[in-house]
Amino acid sequence: MDLNRIGIVGCGTMGSAMAQRWITTGTVQREQIVACTATPDGSRKVMDQLGILCGTSCLAVVEAADVVVLGVKPQHLDALLPSLGMHARPGQVWLSILAGVTTKRLEAGLPSSTQVVRCMPNTPSRLGLGIVAVAPGTHASPEAVARVRQLVEPLGLALDLPEHRMDAFTSVAGSGPAYVFLFLEVLARAAQAEGFEPDLARELALRVLLGAGELARVDGRDPAKLRAEVTSRRGVTEAALSVLAEAGWADTMVKAVATGRLRSSELAGHTPTRHSASEILQYMERR
Ligand SMILES: NC(=O)c1ccc[n+]([C@@H]2O[C@H](COP(=O)([O-])OP(=O)(O)OC[C@H]3O[C@@H](n4cnc5c(N)ncnc54)[C@H](OP(=O)(O)O)[C@@H]3O)[C@@H](O)[C@H]2O)c1
Repeated sequence: MDLNRIGIVGCGTMGSAMAQRWITTGTVQREQIVACTATPDGSRKVMDQLGILCGTSCLAVVEAADVVVLGVKPQHLDALLPSLGMHARPGQVWLSILAGVTTKRLEAGLPSSTQVVRCMPNTPSRLGLGIVAVAPGTHASPEAVARVRQLVEPLGLALDLPEHRMDAFTSVAGSGPAYVFLFLEVLARAAQAEGFEPDLARELALRVLLGAGELARVDGRDPAKLRAEVTSRRGVTEAALSVLAEAGWADTMVKAVATGRLRSSELAGHTPTRHSASEILQYMERR
């Protein structure tokens, strides 16, 4: 099987981001991609935005594809997997981007020996600025993994990761853009509170974020050192940072990432209960 035809089951935010990048970079021809969504509105949006064939029949997509990209929400998987599995073909590769869903669970729901590779991308993949973790399942051949690597490399940095680290990766890197967007929103809101017009406030926040990120990347030193360079004793930055420190911002961030990781393992069925903040702190202290 040449693994050229790609079928995206659940072409929402992340599925579309990946398809867009493949089309832009010529990694996959538009005509080689088919997709499905739950609703006709969703399909229309995908066809308008990406110019690929998209409908509401997942089974047709599975039948047509050499590589099946699973892009539905983890919560929809149980209802969908048995019927998808009935239409799976030998030799196909199943590339799952579902948070928290293990290759073992997918393999159990698909015909025996189905080749499954789990990936965790993030939305900057749309621009080739993502970071994508790759963890092959039990039956994935070297050719299958190589094909998945070809598909993830245009999305950004591709990392091989042992599957037990996927939940942590998901919380840090898969969800990470949301933390950064929140920071952007809040800094822009703070700028507005200081009297800047909304557009200018947003531009200031964005430039700070881009400039600081690029400086950290190019400079390569520990960000704590870069922060120290901005923080004169008894100066403006020190005064502002002291408020964040008093509010426990750094611990909150660490706790947020740990909570995301636990939610990811919850989605996999590892830890069925929700966790209180104190449980998470205890868990972190034990590690
Ligand atoms: N968003 C991220 O940043 C991100 C990052 C890494 C991984 N992921 C993973 O990517 C997956 C999708 O997330 P998302 O943010 O892209 O969600 P999303 O935007 O809600 O997309 C989900 C897609 O699945 C479709 N869908 C739902 N039920 C379906 C069904 N029964 N048959 C066919 N299609 C169905 C939806 O169709 P409609 O449009 O018609 O509703 C939609 O196109 C999740 O498993 C998530 O863990 C997401």
